[in-house]
Amino acid sequence: MKLGLLTSGGDCPGLNAAIRAVVRTANNRFGYETVGIRNGWKGLHDGDIIPLPPKSVAGILARGGTILGTSRFNPVHDPDTVAHCLENIALHRIDGIIVIGGDGSLSAGYELSKLGAKIIGIPKTIDNDIAGTDATFGFYTAVQTVTNAIDSLHATAESHHRIMIIETMGRNSGWIAVTAGIAGGADMILIPERPFNWDRLCRQLVTRHEVKRFSIVVVAEGAIAEGEGIITTGQLDNFGRPVYGGVGYAVAREIEQRTGISTRVTALGHVQRSGTPVAEDRLLATTMGVQAVEAASAGKWGQFMALNSGHIVTVPLSEMKGKTRYVDDRTYEIAEIFFG
Ligand code: F6P
Repeated sequence: MKLGLLTSGGDCPGLNAAIRAVVRTANNRFGYETVGIRNGWKGLHDGDIIPLPPKSVAGILARGGTILGTSRFNPVHDPDTVAHCLENIALHRIDGIIVIGGDGSLSAGYELSKLGAKIIGIPKTIDNDIAGTDATFGFYTAVQTVTNAIDSLHATAESHHRIMIIETMGRNSGWIAVTAGIAGGADMILIPERPFNWDRLCRQLVTRHEVKRFSIVVVAEGAIAEGEGIITTGQLDNFGRPVYGGVGYAVAREIEQRTGISTRVTALGHVQRSGTPVAEDRLLATTMGVQAVEAASAGKWGQFMALNSGHIVTVPLSEMKGKTRYVDDRTYEIAEIFFG
């Protein structure tokens, strides 16, 4: 069998571990050939396809990013684009494609699979928001990065008696914010799943300030105030989705105005997506990579790998499309105990 392998959408720590696992499993276990499709779905459209022998994945396990490159390219944007992609699968005699991607990239894979392409998905994203899996790799490294930032910011927050706002990524789900917020001991966490109330937020911060004299507030980029909309940069990505960012500054301005307490912002941005993957991400990426090739050998096309109560299982791609995995009430309840 000849497997095509691509990484698509925003990069995240652990992609190289997954690539290594797919190539090694394909070669060592099954004697399959793997080719790399460069820069996500765009490489399939352009025919940018390279051999991926086992030696090409040596030494990449601990490296962030993706040796294959990535892009936010929608292969099912229009009939012409779809036709190019399907033609290149045939031209390069690719029997099946393993796509490592987030919700947009896996959904596109699902659409291609309905048109006859043989696709298996491996979910990845720091956002941890893919429906049907308990976790996605990349998330744990992002959480560690944010937790480290919260730890660091405590000293300056205490010294200056300030409110420190930390803006995290995550789009419409608050997983990074709430998980790192719990781990780092945040005094308030604002996430999209729980629209916040300005009066209540400021009252809580003022009350805390009277005793503790500083606060750490973690704000997910998709956080919203009651009755207000998401703050975005005004740009759209190639899937037509708004590019988020900026809510941390808006929250800081409003808090400072209402409370008079000096407030500063750290928007962590892409540092959350980069750098060396932590062990948990390497393990999840490796296990999913191995089992994706096993799924291909068993003919389980049109499915994606999912973590389900500690086990990797295959789930139909149709089950994640159009859905988002949100922060559950219990997790936020645990975080709330430490607010104020
Ligand atoms: O989906 C992953 C993610 O990192 C989001 O958390 C964030 O909103 C977005 O990607 C940023 O994307 P870009 O790479 O286009 O700046």
